[in-house]
Amino acid sequence: MSDQDLAEKLVSVLQRPDGNTNLRPVHSIGISATGFFEPSLIARNFCTADHFCNDRSDVIVRFSNGSGAASVHDGWSDVRGLAVRFHLSDGTDTDLIAMTLPEFFAPTPEGFLEFAEMAAPKPYHGQTPWQKIAGLLQLILPKRDPYPGETISPDDGAIEFADQNAFAQLGVMQAAQIGAPVSYVREAYHAVHTFIVTGEDGTKRWVRFYWQPIAGVLKTNPAATPVDDYLRQELKDRLADEPARFSLMMMIGEVGDDFNDSARPWPPHRKRIMMGTLTLNAVPKDQVAQCEKLSFNPGLLTDGIALSDDPVLQIRIKAYEVSSEWRGATPCPFSKG
Ligand code: HEM
Repeated sequence: MSDQDLAEKLVSVLQRPDGNTNLRPVHSIGISATGFFEPSLIARNFCTADHFCNDRSDVIVRFSNGSGAASVHDGWSDVRGLAVRFHLSDGTDTDLIAMTLPEFFAPTPEGFLEFAEMAAPKPYHGQTPWQKIAGLLQLILPKRDPYPGETISPDDGAIEFADQNAFAQLGVMQAAQIGAPVSYVREAYHAVHTFIVTGEDGTKRWVRFYWQPIAGVLKTNPAATPVDDYLRQELKDRLADEPARFSLMMMIGEVGDDFNDSARPWPPHRKRIMMGTLTLNAVPKDQVAQCEKLSFNPGLLTDGIALSDDPVLQIRIKAYEVSSEWRGATPCPFSKG
């Protein structure tokens, strides 16, 4: 199968029956915000990309819920996304796309395709109390009950896939426990893949990025009845009062770490560099042009930062282009060449 065919297949498989083809097939519900990025004093030693060398770069970001459903269920347990576009001094842009899962579900596009096929939403059934007790006796955690109004879910298929494919177990287990944040700015977001950065002295390093919220991570109470629609208003209210900040952290890989498999974590004691601070202080009024119609792409990079050979990262470049075109969005600058 050509990369184009595989990308198209991936995007079709991700589309949900309760989605809307004018929206993104995943991360469908979201809100954008604007602000700026300021690099730390040591950032340029590690990466010569424009936004790590200038005092300040303007940014637009999009926060999102991971689900492809067109209805808003902020309070449901779900992965969240943070896509950041840095506006560079020469008028070009670069993107860094991240999510709340630190590791992905599969090491290859083909593995992810199988996962996505199996995890297509199916009627969701809870467990009886007896089934939960029987499971606990075998050290199996009980399944959560469906949320009010939840009829279909990817959970059963994802768990079945993880039972058969060890590589998916970490991602599926983390996704199952992820919960809902009190605010989009009270989550940590991971860019997941390995990128190659070049420092001022020419040294190349294999690195993974993540955003750490300066206010800290804070989830809602999982036992409370979930509220459907609060995250976008919370962000507008918050930023009208005060800015929100994230630190951009960069983990440096070492020999033996897996650079091309985003389903595998690196050891937790890898060196971490604080690369800069993201400050968000406004929500654009036009949430159609400045959010819904925007297209981010993990391949939109700039000198000083390059893609690793991770095959999932490579196929995402095509998949996001296909998706942007199918939903009639403004093409990413990457697609314009
Ligand atoms: C083969 C693997 C993957 C495929 C096929 C895939 C596919 C997609 C597609 C089709 C979209 C919608 C793009 C658009 O219409 O603009 C999307 C959005 C998104 N994906 Fe992925 N994805 C993959 C892996 C990942 C990974 C590893 C991450 C985490 C870093 C991620 C995070 C996101 C986020 C945050 C968005 C929303 C971006 C926005 O706000 O515009 N995805 N993905």
